[in-house]
Amino acid sequence: MSKLNINSEIKKIEKRLEQSIKSHDKVLEAASHHLFSSGGKRVRPAFVILSSQFGKEMNEDVYRVAVTLELIHMATLVHDDVIDKSDKRRGSLTISKKWDQNTAILTGNFLLARGLEHISNIEANRVHAVISRAIVEVCMGELYQFQDQFNGHQTITNYLRRINRKTALLIQLSTEVGAITSGADAKTVHNLKMIGHYIGMSFQIVDDILDFTSTEKKLGKPVGSDLMNGHLTLPVLFEMRKNETFKQQIQQLNSETDHETFVKLIDQIRNSDVIAQSQAVSDKYLNKALHLIDELDNEDSKSLFKKLIKKVGKRNV
Ligand code: IPE
Ligand code: IPE
Ligand code: MG
Ligand code: MG
Ligand code: MG
Repeated sequence: MSKLNINSEIKKIEKRLEQSIKSHDKVLEAASHHLFSSGGKRVRPAFVILSSQFGKEMNEDVYRVAVTLELIHMATLVHDDVIDKSDKRRGSLTISKKWDQNTAILTGNFLLARGLEHISNIEANRVHAVISRAIVEVCMGELYQFQDQFNGHQTITNYLRRINRKTALLIQLSTEVGAITSGADAKTVHNLKMIGHYIGMSFQIVDDILDFTSTEKKLGKPVGSDLMNGHLTLPVLFEMRKNETFKQQIQQLNSETDHETFVKLIDQIRNSDVIAQSQAVSDKYLNKALHLIDELDNEDSKSLFKKLIKKVGKRNV
């Protein structure tokens, strides 16, 4: 295979994405376009394309699944913002805020359906099976998070299971279907699937850290909102383990708790070594991914892959 230019591949994907969200209905199209044009890192398509380099050939199916996974991701973001009652995403207003909640729910469904439509002519049943399963798991991840809202008795294992479902699976899917559609052998498919899993776990842990340490301006979405929404993430769970007073304060939180109380607790986390401790867990996952990449063939793609992973690990957006 000739040397890959990942940026130009992403440009191709973006053209197709823009085509896919066209609709006779101007509201659906405008709302989808609003999210599409506000940017995003396009991490999932990048992993599909990179993973396909370890198979036999780049082909139409590879592009199709890359577009589909970004559309599914966009759908989950739109629905996630409804669930999290977020006003901002990628530096712009969310669909609920710019239009209304019903429009957001329907736009999410629209994006999901367009995603599935985009791979409708792929014959391999396995591709459809793994994608459908992942969508169900993402739903469960978001649902369990909702059920665990303000649950001060949850465990770290609980948290890890939840982020596996809500985030890691879709990234794992990117590396897995990238390998499947390009005709990689069974061992390589499995290897890439595990690589995606580890990257995905690290990815959500970093997202959860940034929710404490970053600024709204940088992230383009509100910070500190995980705790305010009752989502207890890794830094909080670590702090609860080492600080009994903090633990009791967290266990008393609910949606009626006043803003200042949240701000104090968020500050406490921000200045605690649990941030570094959480980063270390994320790094551990990334290192597992890097080790597995060493076992693959194709030296050029390996180094591109490693570069992208390191960038994702160090990101501040
Ligand atoms: C945000 O995903 C939601 C998570 C799963 C953490 P991204 O960080 O990939 O969002 P965009 O697409 O770059 O905006
Ligand atoms: C992301 O969770 C998971 C999904 C989108 C399914 P978050 O709620 O942490 O995502 P952000 O921080 O709003 O992007
Ligand atoms: Mg959420
Ligand atoms: Mg959210
Ligand atoms: Mg988040």
